[in-house]
Order: sequence, then C-alpha cells, then structure tokens
Amino acid sequence: MQYLVTGGAGYIGSHISLRLSELGHQVTVLDDLSSGHRWAVAGLELIEVDLRELLPLREALAGRSFDGVFHFAAKSLVGESAERPLYYYQNNVAGTANLIEVALESGWRDCVFSSTAAVYGNPTTPLIAETHALQPINVYGQTKRVMEQLLSDVHQQGQLNAACLRYFNAAGAAADNHRGEWHEPETHLIPNILRRAAGDDVPLTIFGDDYETPDGTCIRDYIHVLDLADAHVGAMELLHRRGGFHTLNLGNGRGYSVMEVLKACEQAVGSGISYAIGARREGDPARLVADASLAADVLGWRPARDLQAIVDSAWSWEQYRRELAAGRV
Ligand SMILES: NC(=O)c1ccc[n+]([C@@H]2O[C@H](COP(=O)([O-])OP(=O)(O)OC[C@H]3O[C@@H](n4cnc5c(N)ncnc54)[C@H](O)[C@@H]3O)[C@@H](O)[C@H]2O)c1
Repeated sequence: MQYLVTGGAGYIGSHISLRLSELGHQVTVLDDLSSGHRWAVAGLELIEVDLRELLPLREALAGRSFDGVFHFAAKSLVGESAERPLYYYQNNVAGTANLIEVALESGWRDCVFSSTAAVYGNPTTPLIAETHALQPINVYGQTKRVMEQLLSDVHQQGQLNAACLRYFNAAGAAADNHRGEWHEPETHLIPNILRRAAGDDVPLTIFGDDYETPDGTCIRDYIHVLDLADAHVGAMELLHRRGGFHTLNLGNGRGYSVMEVLKACEQAVGSGISYAIGARREGDPARLVADASLAADVLGWRPARDLQAIVDSAWSWEQYRRELAAGRV
C-alpha cells in the first residue's frame, strides 16, 4: 500500500512510518518540520509543506494517489494552546480541513487520525470509555474535538472513512533506540525524569502527593509507542475492510502513578533520581485511565508492553538522543 503520513517527522508519526515501512508499505511523509526532525524521516520521501497553506499543499500533492492517510500533524502543548488559541485552531483545525479537502479532491478515502484523551476533560468514571462526555478543559483538547467532528461530518456525506484514535500518554522508544521522543520544550513526565537522570539541570517536581490515590500522586495511562503503531496499522486495515467512522481509546487500561513511574525510571537508570514535591496543578485530575476494551474488540489489539518496558526503551533512547544532540552520531 501507499500511505501519506502527516506529522511523520514527529515522535509518534515517525514510529508509525517505520512500522509501515517494515511491513513493506510505501510511505510519504508530509511535515513542516516545526517540531519534527529531518533525521527521523531518513530513507523516506519527505514533502515539506505547512498544512495551513492550502495552495502549496494542493500543489505538493497534485496527481498523487494514496491508499490512506495517517494524520498526526498538530500542535499539542496544552499551555501554549491557552496562550495562542487562534494559532491552535488554524494549525490543527484549519490544517485538517485543508488536508481533507485535498484528500477528497484526490479520491483518498481512509484516514486514521491522532486524537487524544484530552477530548474527555475531567473524568466522571474510574475508567474512561468512548461514550464518556466530551468536555475538554483546554484549547488543545477543544481543537481535537473539533477535528473529530469535522471528520465525522465529512464521513456523513459519504466521502471519507475515519478512525479517531484517542491516545492516552504515548511513551517509550523504538527497539533499536535510534528514535524516540524529542520535544522542545519537553512537557512529558518520562522524558523529563530521564533527562534529569542523565544529568540535565532541569527541576523535577511532582505536582501534588495528596490525591486520593494509593500513594497520593496522580495516576495516568501510559502506552508504548510501538503498541500505538500496531493499533494504527490495525485501524487502517479496518477502514480498508469495512469503512465507517470509529472512535477508539488507546491506552493500557491500568494506569500508573507518578511515583510508580519514577521508581520504574530509577530501576532503568540503576540509581536514585532526586525530585521535589510541589503543589497540585490546576486542572489535573487524580486519575485518567482508558477503558480500551473497544479497541480490543474492534481491532483485536492489546498493548503488549508494560511500564518497565516503556521506561527501559526510553532510557536507552535518551542515551542515543544525547549523542545525536551533541553531533556524535
Ligand atoms: N505524545 C502524546 O502523548 C500524544 C497523546 C495524545 C495525542 N497525541 C497526538 O498525536 C500526534 C503526534 O504527537 P507527537 O507527540 O508525535 O507530536 P510531535 O510534535 O512530535 O509531532 C507532530 C508533527 O507534526 C508536524 N506538524 C505540526 N503542525 C504542522 C503543520 N501545520 N503542517 C505540517 N506539519 C505539521 C510537526 O513538525 C511534527 O513533526 C499529535 O496530533 C498529538 O496531538 C499525542
């Protein structure tokens, strides 16, 4: 098959691109490299274009035929989304509208879309199922909700099949440690703990240890990026087979506390990691854990990697990332 991967130079998109290539598919990455990395698409065709620019986008993709589109390209910093809402709507929502316009003009019908658990907002149930109310509490989550709605509305017109995959916290790295998570700024827990463990002078603060959880720290659902990759392949196959519009949670369904993550990192690193306890952050629920049973039913998918596997691979990648950053590899 021939696939277009938007945002394929980014963290998750580059792992899925690699998986697709390993399966023998032809991959074309479309990315403006605003947060992605050129090295992450080595060996793949890269179309460098900004999704917000409809005419250059149309020109870049004119006459191209794809069996499906994996749409990862988006801005995803919650804090930045509060400061720059217009930019987030333009990049995420208008960018998606442009992509879909070109897809329809070109006759590409199947789209697997990166959605997020942020569409749910504060959970009202211990496990969050796809039927949970959609009440995002930040601009980033709102844009993703609107992007889902856009895909659903176009699907209603009979022009597009889509699978919106609502990831919880993606983490971990490729088995050969040559690709992994590298955002600047990095806002995610595991890479930040490991950067500190590797010697970066970044403060490590646990925001609140008085939540109603077994050890008092927040519980989140971490999912290995390689498990995500398998689910994406399954979702695209589902669209090829049955079409339709689907929303599916992708998470481990168990949840780990911040303290458990820290302990797993210490285990991976082989030494203690110092941290401070800070005040709770506004808008941080005690627990955000997926009910991922629908993805299991529909895709026959179950995550195969646990927290220690996630952290071990992320630590191995962190060594390589530092070599890359220093220009030694
Ligand atoms: N990382 C997570 O834990 C997580 C969780 C839930 C959802 N998601 C979603 O998954 C997707 C990928 O996340 P990630 O962590 O790999 O992010 P990332 O920033 O590493 O990758 C996003 C990629 O999209 C590209 N991009 C952004 N705007 C673009 C535009 N206008 N035109 C062309 N390219 C553009 C960037 O250059 C980058 O390569 C995002 O849509 C994100 O919202 C991520």
